[in-house]
Amino acid sequence: MDELLELAREIQSAAHVPYSGYRVGAAIETADGERYVGCNLENANYSNSLHAEEVAIAEALKEGHREFTRIAVSSDRRDGVTPCGMCRQTLAEFCSDELRVLCDEGESVREYSLGELLPAAISAETIE
Ligand code: THU
Ligand code: ZN
Repeated sequence: MDELLELAREIQSAAHVPYSGYRVGAAIETADGERYVGCNLENANYSNSLHAEEVAIAEALKEGHREFTRIAVSSDRRDGVTPCGMCRQTLAEFCSDELRVLCDEGESVREYSLGELLPAAISAETIE
């Protein structure tokens, strides 16, 4: 098992999911090899909820990192969950189309590129 995916699995224990009961963990790897993790944190006002990928990238950003190579995502169902549309766009703000996205399908890992998951993303150049 890839160590990054292992981290994404472990951090699910910190998830706050009283509404969905669906634990998600994410682990992002910086260009210089550091790793930051995040989990989903739900709110009684559902739309305030934070997604695991957002929390993981925020943890890395606040330490000054701006270059990323890989992110791993895992749910407690091991159902191959991929980052939602909002998280794909959040990743696209800081990561190139080449970012590797590892998704946990239990016995196997499904790997995508960010460009494959979010083609033609809006970016800073778009709104220049
Ligand atoms: N969730 C994530 O944490 N990441 C995603 O990109 C997909 C969805 C969370 C949000 C909510 O707490 C639960 O999974 C069910 O949608
Ligand atoms: Zn999301």
